[in-house]
Amino acid sequence: MTFSRFKNLPPYPFPRMRSLLAGITPEDTSAALNMSLGEPQHQVPSFVTDILHDQRASYNKYPPVQGTEAWQQAVSGWLIRRNGLSAGMVGSENLVPLNGSREGLFSIGLVAIGRQKNGQIPLVLSPNPFYQPYAGAAQSAGAETLYFSGDAALDGMPDYASLPEDVLRRTALAFICNPSNPEGGLASRDYLAQMVGLARKYDFTLVGDECYSEIYDDKPPVGLLDVCAELVRRGLGNSDNPFQNVVVFNSLSKRSNLAGLRSGFMAGDPDIVRETLRMRTYGGAPLPLPVQAASAAAWNDEAHVEANRALYRRKFDLAERYLGGKFDFTRPAGGFCLWLKVGDGEKACRELWRAAGIKCLPGVYLARPDADGHNVGMPYIRLVLVHDEKLLEPALEKIAITL
Ligand SMILES: Cc1ncc(COP(=O)(O)O)c(C=O)c1O
Repeated sequence: MTFSRFKNLPPYPFPRMRSLLAGITPEDTSAALNMSLGEPQHQVPSFVTDILHDQRASYNKYPPVQGTEAWQQAVSGWLIRRNGLSAGMVGSENLVPLNGSREGLFSIGLVAIGRQKNGQIPLVLSPNPFYQPYAGAAQSAGAETLYFSGDAALDGMPDYASLPEDVLRRTALAFICNPSNPEGGLASRDYLAQMVGLARKYDFTLVGDECYSEIYDDKPPVGLLDVCAELVRRGLGNSDNPFQNVVVFNSLSKRSNLAGLRSGFMAGDPDIVRETLRMRTYGGAPLPLPVQAASAAAWNDEAHVEANRALYRRKFDLAERYLGGKFDFTRPAGGFCLWLKVGDGEKACRELWRAAGIKCLPGVYLARPDADGHNVGMPYIRLVLVHDEKLLEPALEKIAITL
C-alpha cells in the first residue's frame, strides 16, 4: 500500500527527542526531570473528579455532539466573563465541545479549507515555531503552509499582513497562538484587530489557539472574541455575526491541570461551528456525559485557576533567578515554557540528558526550515515549568550549571 496524505509530516517532536537521547545514560540523576512535555503536574481539582464519579451512571448514554445545556451554559458564561462580552453574545450556536483542543485544531482544516481557494491550491498561515497539529490541519486538507517566524515589532507574532495580495487571496486558514508556544509572548489588541480585518477582507478562517490564556504573569492575554466584540462597538464589525471568520480554541488541560480529561472547545463564528458540527455528527467523538458535567463545573470555577496561576508566577521567579541574563532568557508573559537560546538545541538537549537526566525539546523539532534550509528553532531548547517548585528548583540550578 502507498500512503500519501501524511507522508510529508515529520515524526512528532517527542519520538524524535527519544531517538536523539537513545543510548545515552544520565551520569547524575539527583535533579532528573522530564521538562519536555507540557503536561501540568499541579493537583487535579477534586470537585471535578467527584463529579466524574457521581455521574458514572450516565456512561450508558450516547452524549450530544453539541454539548449538554449545562456544558453550553458553563462555557458560554466563561467566555462572556473572560472576554468582557455582553450577556447572550455566546450561545449554543457558537460552541463545539472537543476532546481537548488538539483534535479540533487538527480537524478545523477539514472544515475550513476547500479543495481550492480562488482557483488555486489553498494556503495555511502558521507561526514558526508552532504547535505541530497546525501542520496536520493543512496536510489533511491538501493545503500548502507558509511558516512565519515571529516579528519583534509585533511582540513576536507572525506578520501575516505583510503578505502580498495574491498570497492572501489563496489563504484559507491562519493560526495565531496567543500566548505563543513556545516563546510565551502575548499578542496586542491592535495586532489581533488587524488579523480579524485581514481574515474578513480575504475571507479566510482565523484560528486563535488560546490554550494557554489562563497561565500568565501580570497581564491577562487579550482574547480574539473580545477583540471581535470591540470591533462591533467601534462600528467596524458585523453586528449580526460579531465573530465572523473567527474561531478560538481552549481547554481545561493547562487552565485546570486536566490534560488527561480531554476536554476543550471551539467557539466563534456560527457558520464555522455549524459546519464543524455537521462533520462531527458523522465522524466526531462527543465528550462522555460525566466529562461534560465535570467540565461545566471546572469552567464555572475560577478559584482553582487563580491558585494555579500563583504557583506558575513563583516558578517564573525561580526560572528568572537561575536563568535570568543567560541564553536570552525572557520571563514568559504567558504560558509555562522557557525558550532558551543555547547555540545548538539538539546538542544541549543531549548534554542535559547525559549530565543531569533532564529532558527538554530541541527547538528545531518545533519549527520548519525556510527555503534556504535555515530552521529558526535550531539554536533553541524548550523547557516546561509544569512540575512543583520542589522538583523544579534543583533542575533549574542544574540546567544553569550544565549549559
Ligand atoms: C499551543 C497548544 N495548543 C493546544 C494544545 C492542545 O492541548 P489540549 O489538546 O490538551 O487541549 C497544546 C498542548 O500542549 C498546545 O501547546
